[in-house]
Amino acid sequence: MDVISIIRTKRDGGALSDAQIDWVVAAYTAGEVADEQMSALAMAILLNGMERREIARWTAAMIASGERMDFRALSRPTVDKHSTGGVGDKITLPLAPLVAACGAAVPQLSGRGLGHTGGTLDKLESIPGWRAGLDNAEMLRVLDEVGAVVCAAGEGLAPADRKLYALRDVTGTVESLPLIASSIMSKKIAEGTGSLVLDVKVGSGAFMKTLDDARALAETMVGLGTDHGVRTVALLTDMSTPLGRTAGNALEVAESVEVLAGGGPRDVVDLTLALAREMLDAAGLPDADPERALADGSAMDHWRRMIAAQGGDPDAPLPTARERHVVPAPASGVLATLDAYAVGLAAWRLGAGRARKEEGVQAAAGVELHAKPGESVVEGAPLVTLHTDTPERFEAALEALAGEAIRVVPADAADDGTGTPPPPTVLDRIA
Ligand code: URA
Repeated sequence: MDVISIIRTKRDGGALSDAQIDWVVAAYTAGEVADEQMSALAMAILLNGMERREIARWTAAMIASGERMDFRALSRPTVDKHSTGGVGDKITLPLAPLVAACGAAVPQLSGRGLGHTGGTLDKLESIPGWRAGLDNAEMLRVLDEVGAVVCAAGEGLAPADRKLYALRDVTGTVESLPLIASSIMSKKIAEGTGSLVLDVKVGSGAFMKTLDDARALAETMVGLGTDHGVRTVALLTDMSTPLGRTAGNALEVAESVEVLAGGGPRDVVDLTLALAREMLDAAGLPDADPERALADGSAMDHWRRMIAAQGGDPDAPLPTARERHVVPAPASGVLATLDAYAVGLAAWRLGAGRARKEEGVQAAAGVELHAKPGESVVEGAPLVTLHTDTPERFEAALEALAGEAIRVVPADAADDGTGTPPPPTVLDRIA
């Protein structure tokens, strides 16, 4: 095998053989194929795509690059959820303990934020004492005792993806359907979950900007999961505006706790319940009632135990930012647009996200939204509050929110349809 002929084959629009795929993934993981060669191949894949067979083989090769976990000894059925990434997407935080409270086991191996999308581990790390790194034995213990665990994937799980994802992030090759599908599904299949619900985001704040692209990604991932014996379902959900009223780490933890206490923004509650129902169905527990588990406090009880099991203090006050800046509504009327990408970028520039993998994040930085699209606003009243410990970041965050990112229309324009009311959160389901 030689890597240059593999790159040329894909560059010229050809299909890679099974043997070529197995070799190049293994050789890259072992350090025998250089980063610059793999980035050329990733770009050729981004530009020319892959056939269904190639994606399946690439996924299998990434799974085979590391260990596979096995939860079959657990007494409860396992089910996981994965989101393709969005702005204000804190759903894992209320969802994992909620589904555990309903009788399933949720092994959530999560990631950190990159670019404008937030990461679940960064959010949870804003809770004093909480730690993301567990070894396999600790993870199994928390899963067995609490029913839900959210932690970082160990070094041994799909190491080919770990290396390739970091390379894609710095070579403009993240937004490729075959590479996203194989990246997500190799980790989820290697993780050993019995069933999986995918939350495929669509809109300005997502990797997939159109419904057609999101549907194609969802169909590919559902096919990969099913072929590997993992019962897999996908919901396509809106990411044209942020989920809930916060984007940032501690801000999103506080909002998640509100949901677990029976309150919280309607879109976050609705999506949490929709995903919980899909997960419980996929796990073979269709009669469980997640709405009741939210209302009777059992989901909150599982949250507290889940946080404490990883060293966190669920009662400790969350960090708050040293500086705030209020953005007023530019006019009176109905908020027609509050763009997800712009808010994600603003939160990131305030310090909630990182520009390079090795950087830290500010726990308290982020954006608080005082209105959602479709709601009335009054000129001059607070519309958005920016939070940061480093006020020199305000200017760049405000630039992200300029232009078309925030649009207010007169109330009568909203009534005659030109105000474009926000789409429903769940747009489609692929099984
Ligand atoms: N999340 C992943 O894990 N991989 C991708 O390629 C994109 C989002």
